[in-house]
Amino acid sequence: MRIFACSDLHVDHQPNWKWIQDLEPGSHTEEALIVAGDISTDLTQLTRCLQHLTGVFSHVFYCPGNHEMWLNTTEGFNTSVEKFDRILGICAQLGVQTEAQRLDDVWVVPLFSWYDDSLIGADDVINRKVLGDCWVDYHLCKFPESVASPAKYFADRNSYAVRGDYDAPVVSFSHMMPRRDLMVPQCFLHFTDLPAVAGTHLLEEQIRTIGSQVHVFGHTHMNHVAFLDNCLYVQNSFGYPRERERTGRKPCFRPVWPLNENAC
Ligand SMILES: [Fe+2]
Ligand SMILES: [Fe+2]
Repeated sequence: MRIFACSDLHVDHQPNWKWIQDLEPGSHTEEALIVAGDISTDLTQLTRCLQHLTGVFSHVFYCPGNHEMWLNTTEGFNTSVEKFDRILGICAQLGVQTEAQRLDDVWVVPLFSWYDDSLIGADDVINRKVLGDCWVDYHLCKFPESVASPAKYFADRNSYAVRGDYDAPVVSFSHMMPRRDLMVPQCFLHFTDLPAVAGTHLLEEQIRTIGSQVHVFGHTHMNHVAFLDNCLYVQNSFGYPRERERTGRKPCFRPVWPLNENAC
């Protein structure tokens, strides 16, 4: 089974939505796509995008990102967890996979995630005041009082899939970043407080237990391929049109399995 990966489709930006819409239905039969979060905050747009992708690929795997967790006044959710569970319900109706599944010779394992402080490096300096003012999640996401750490909460929801006895190679994926060395030093970051909201080491612990051969992630909008500790880490985010103008990159679906076909 050939597997492609992408993240951060952000289809509320018209050029991104057009790129998805232009995909020919049925053009990737017998192939699978991983979408590692951040499709849209809007449930109608999210549903439309996933629906289209299920007509293009035989299998679509997805995990929500932080943008899906933003609450607006019209959708009526009390918490971001409530919205998260509603999204999983939509996925079930559409046939989009949000749980571990074996496809022929490979397992695909979604890992839900949020960020914590564990990826702040020893040399990183975080300006909490600036971050508190500008990081939208802090203003539009709401977690139940029982959820002291969203990173731990979502990591716990993966426990059914975190085992070391998979009977075939594993391709796992998450929206958040699993380790600090997948990101450049702070002095090269456009948004210098990013290490505080990029991901969590809890993911890396789960990847180690599972023994993933490939792990796809997103969120930081910095495309990256690295082979670390016997795992190929891949980010292939679409990002925002203005970011692509800066970097010159074009949207694509990156093949991640079989391993020898990894190219974009
Ligand atoms: Fe994103
Ligand atoms: Fe994100």
